[in-house]
Amino acid sequence: MPRKPKIAIVGAGSLANSLAPALRHSGYTITEVISREAPRSRQSARNLATKVGAQAVTAPTATLEATLLWLCVPDRQIRAVAASLAGRAHGNVRFAFHSSGALTSRELARLRKDEIAIASVHPLMTFVPGARPSLAGVPFALEGDSPATRLAKAIVRDLEGKSFVLPAKRKAAYHAWATMTSPLLLAFLVTLEDAARAAGLTRDDSRRKSLPIIRQTLANYSRLGPGHSFSGPIIRGDAETVARHLAVLRRHPEARAVYLALARSAMRTLPVNNRKELGKLLQG
Ligand SMILES: NC(=O)c1ccc[n+]([C@@H]2O[C@H](COP(=O)([O-])OP(=O)(O)OC[C@H]3O[C@@H](n4cnc5c(N)ncnc54)[C@H](OP(=O)(O)O)[C@@H]3O)[C@@H](O)[C@H]2O)c1
Repeated sequence: MPRKPKIAIVGAGSLANSLAPALRHSGYTITEVISREAPRSRQSARNLATKVGAQAVTAPTATLEATLLWLCVPDRQIRAVAASLAGRAHGNVRFAFHSSGALTSRELARLRKDEIAIASVHPLMTFVPGARPSLAGVPFALEGDSPATRLAKAIVRDLEGKSFVLPAKRKAAYHAWATMTSPLLLAFLVTLEDAARAAGLTRDDSRRKSLPIIRQTLANYSRLGPGHSFSGPIIRGDAETVARHLAVLRRHPEARAVYLALARSAMRTLPVNNRKELGKLLQG
């Protein structure tokens, strides 16, 4: 097998639009970008194919003259796409990856009949339209057949990512954690905007005013660790202040529920003073 196998990408959404250019930049040839038939799907595939020097095709017209098939489709589509390509991929294709964080490589099991080695290869990064994050230093969770995970490891190294092996039975828990690192962190930031409304701030104002302290908190967390980054009324043991917060947030019940859940978590995991008083307050 050549050191850098040719790759066909299925899908032209958020992940594919970061991954395919990064692969190309690392010296991989992208042969085809495979889309569904709908005009909008085909247009997205054409746009991406143009960027990476590939052919835009639909599944029935794909030549599959690649060594690796990389499925970048939503989790719920992975099994169906694998089934639709099974039987046709025999010959050149020797490996197939998908990039779901939650699902295991078994979603691709239909391709094993074509003697294709399968793996799940999940980058722990957020990909959205309009942002193209660097993959340097990004952890990639690998799971699947040994020849496929070996290839994935080499590709991740070329992308300057950091691969690690994840047992199949841990994938759902891993992805619950991964979902908290970005999508639910973002949901938390939006909950902050709700809480800011109680102080008379608009959402935009909340976002602008909160970014400096959020950035510094992340910098402290990274450099000093969680315990030494914790400030505010809970570490000071200011129970009366916390009681005022809970009272004023009664009119914003969702923000209050998040405040309570996080304050209880802080009681378990971070340095706290006046634990008894705070504990009583946070019960209700
Ligand atoms: N986005 C992230 O932050 C992120 C991070 C890590 C891993 N992932 C994983 O990456 C995978 C893709 O996620 P995404 O966020 O890139 O999704 P997305 O933005 O919704 O893109 C999905 C792409 O797949 C295409 N597609 C859907 N069904 C298809 C089919 N049957 N045949 C061919 N193409 C099909 C869609 O095209 P049309 O709908 O236009 O046909 C679209 O281009 C998922 O497994 C996800 O778990 C995503």
